Amino acid sequence: MPTATSAPLTKAVLTEALTGLAAAQKTLSPWLFYDARGSELFEHITQLPEYYLTRTERAIFQKHAPALPLHLIAPVTIAELGAGTAAKTGIILNAFADHQNSVLYQPIDISASALDEAATSIAAHIPNITVRPQVANYITDRYIIERPPNHNVLALYIGSSIGNFWPQEATGILRNLRGHLQPGDFLLLGTDLAPGDHKSIATLLAAYDDAAGITAAFNRNILVRLNRELAADFNLNAFAHRARWNAAASRIEMHLESLTAQSVHIAGHKFTFAEGETIHTENSVKFTEQSLTTLLTHSGFALDQTLTDANHSFAVTLAEAV
Ligand code: AVI
Repeated sequence: MPTATSAPLTKAVLTEALTGLAAAQKTLSPWLFYDARGSELFEHITQLPEYYLTRTERAIFQKHAPALPLHLIAPVTIAELGAGTAAKTGIILNAFADHQNSVLYQPIDISASALDEAATSIAAHIPNITVRPQVANYITDRYIIERPPNHNVLALYIGSSIGNFWPQEATGILRNLRGHLQPGDFLLLGTDLAPGDHKSIATLLAAYDDAAGITAAFNRNILVRLNRELAADFNLNAFAHRARWNAAASRIEMHLESLTAQSVHIAGHKFTFAEGETIHTENSVKFTEQSLTTLLTHSGFALDQTLTDANHSFAVTLAEAV
């Protein structure tokens, strides 16, 4: 995630703020969360008791990773979209490193510093892995997936990030990825699941509105960022964090609710808020088996198997490029 403020980045932040806040339903795009402070807060979120997603996905990896190489025809190179520091990926890399003499791992991320950290820690723990990092925004930039002779590709897109995109964007990301693959290559996709018999809506809401207020700080940090980078004048105490379950769209929505009628100024533009009006800052889609199958099919993949936890909270899906 970007941590330094540069001129093009500031321009992108300004464009996003002016466009999003002029819409009937005011919006600010979730990529704005991830400045240095937002990235720290997100890291904290992943360790919260209420935020079951990260630890559940890790537990699924720990249980099922050793059998993964048996589903693919070796040798395999592993590419990862949005790898970050690749904290959980080591579990999967280890499983393949046990089956092959050497493994080429190709993490792709917008943050050079996160990739450096990933490369250092993987090199220290798994000697027969070669890490070839690529700094790129996998949504807007072209990226490359290298294929050594006779290798198949396992593409990883884990951490449930796909849920933060509108359905057409999510399909676009996976279709673009599919364009780098050949039939017989595989995708491992991490997604959070819709509430059901074992997971309540209350559990979901708590994951996005924790008792310690870390998610609230993460959400409000978007306003802190606009105040700092665009000299906006948001009164932070006049906006409250809200997490809502949208059953029709099967998603958690995060909003910032204006606690009073007020106006805010950004770069000579005035935005007025009614009391109770919200800025929609994030969607986090929760999938069903059916919506997962639809997403994969529309993107050129066939679902091979879905690995889940005992509570059916989270899914790790193996899908084949067709
Ligand atoms: C990054 N992404 C998968 C997180 C999620 O759960 O949708 C972002 C997040 N927002 C609030 N808490 C975590």
